[in-house]
Amino acid sequence: MTIVNVHSTQLPLCESKPNVERNVWDAITKNDNGLFKTFWQQHRYHEARRWSVVDFINEIDFPNLTMIERTYIKNAGFAELTTKPGADRLTRQADEECRKWSKKNPQLSAVMQACGTWSRYWNEEESHHEMAFLYLSYAVNQNIDNPLLNVVPSDEEIIDFRRIYPDDNMLRTLTILAMSEGIATMQYNDCADAATDPALIALFRKISLDESQHMRNFVSFAKALVESGEFDIRDVLSMAVMFMREDGEIYGNSENRIKERDTHVNWWDAIDDNCKRDPTSEEKEVKQIIFKIVENITGIKVRDVEELEEAWMEQLVV
Ligand SMILES: [Fe+2]
Ligand SMILES: [Fe+2]
Repeated sequence: MTIVNVHSTQLPLCESKPNVERNVWDAITKNDNGLFKTFWQQHRYHEARRWSVVDFINEIDFPNLTMIERTYIKNAGFAELTTKPGADRLTRQADEECRKWSKKNPQLSAVMQACGTWSRYWNEEESHHEMAFLYLSYAVNQNIDNPLLNVVPSDEEIIDFRRIYPDDNMLRTLTILAMSEGIATMQYNDCADAATDPALIALFRKISLDESQHMRNFVSFAKALVESGEFDIRDVLSMAVMFMREDGEIYGNSENRIKERDTHVNWWDAIDDNCKRDPTSEEKEVKQIIFKIVENITGIKVRDVEELEEAWMEQLVV
């Protein structure tokens, strides 16, 4: 049997290098068989980017990892536990939305189906992150007699971190997921910058790239919802404002945030504040990420939090 390269120029729909579909609305609404072609693009991209956790871990020099590297690994393992319930929820919610819009706006219904279908790749890719870090946490600490570093989560902790997120408006959901993935991209790059083991650095960089393409997918689906005319950009702006406020999701007191929320655990709740880099430079980068996401979804460009709040207020009075 001949193995066919999915990038082949000989095959139909394989001519271009696979990538994230940046314009889901056009891909689905301006093409014959747009949904099928979008699935094929999603699949080719996923297949082209697959990698092995075991292969990466085999290259890591376990006994010589630094304390900071061990802490990063532990935190990342706990944080990644929360992605499966997020992806499970997205799959279910996207299908509900697909049925809901099927008669009123079939094109939007198809976008929802494309989003739900892509969630299978998202879930599978996140499983790589979760298992890479949980296994590393286990293996790396086998010979260390320090209870603080007994880092593999208990069954109770795993079940707690698997709680399903409450449903929200679909545009708000996709926006906050884009922001979460953007921040994850930054955090893993920070981990890579602080790490010393070359194979661990490569693992952090690889996972950061995964998070970056997840962000681009969420932005693309959110933009398609806006383009459908059925969703309101005020929801995007309000999520960004909530993220950026002093007492908001990112910069509010993390202990209070978790105490107030007993329904689920967010990705950013699970990050230990002690592992964050210089807060000023991190805050600056987070803002740039959030502002870029807002611009890509809504077309509204803002340079600081005041402009973001102004844009939101302007939309409220429209
Ligand atoms: Fe992840
Ligand atoms: Fe991700």
